[in-house]
Amino acid sequence: MKITLIGFMGSGKTSVAQQLGHLLRLPVLEMDDLILKKTNAKNMHEAFAIGGELLIREKEIEIAKEYSTIDNTIISSGGGIVMNKIVLDYLKMTFGKVVFLNASFSTIACRLADDKLRPLFSNIQDVEALYRFRLPLYLKYSDQVIETDGKTVDRIAEEIVGGFKHGK
Ligand code: S3P
Repeated sequence: MKITLIGFMGSGKTSVAQQLGHLLRLPVLEMDDLILKKTNAKNMHEAFAIGGELLIREKEIEIAKEYSTIDNTIISSGGGIVMNKIVLDYLKMTFGKVVFLNASFSTIACRLADDKLRPLFSNIQDVEALYRFRLPLYLKYSDQVIETDGKTVDRIAEEIVGGFKHGK
C-alpha cells in the first residue's frame, strides 16, 4: 500500500503521515525534505531563492518518478503538488492511493498565522486565492477525501485506514 497525502499548506499532511506510518508500520517520506536534499538548501526559503517555484516543481516531478515503482510507503507531499498532473500520475503507480486532507481556509489561516517557514504563505488575500484555485485540483486528483476540520490527527488517520478497508 502506498498512500500519498495531498492538501493545502497547513492541512496536517506531515502529522497525519506520521500517524499513518505508525498505524500501518510503514516508512514515511516527506517530499519537502527530499526537495531540500536535492537542492542542498537548508529550508524552503533557501530552495525558492536558488531556483524559484519552478525548481520546486521540477524536483517534485523527479521525486514522484523515483517513487513511482516503490510500494509500502506513506508520502507527505507539498501543497503545490497538484500544479503538475504528472506528479500525481507517478504517485498513483504501483498501488498508489491519493488522499486529500480537506481543511477549510479559516482553519488553515489560523494554523499558519505566525508561520515563517513557508515562502508561499504571505499576503492572506493571495493565499486565499491560491487555496480557491487549488481546491478543485485536490478534489480531482484524490481517491479519497477526508474532511479534517475539528478532528484529531488520530481520528483522521483512522478514517483513512478505515476507508481503505472498505475499498474506498
Ligand atoms: C508549497 C507548499 C510547501 C512546500 C513549498 C511549496 C506550495 O509544502 O512544498 O513551500 O506550493 O503550496 P507544505 O504544504 O508542506 O507546506
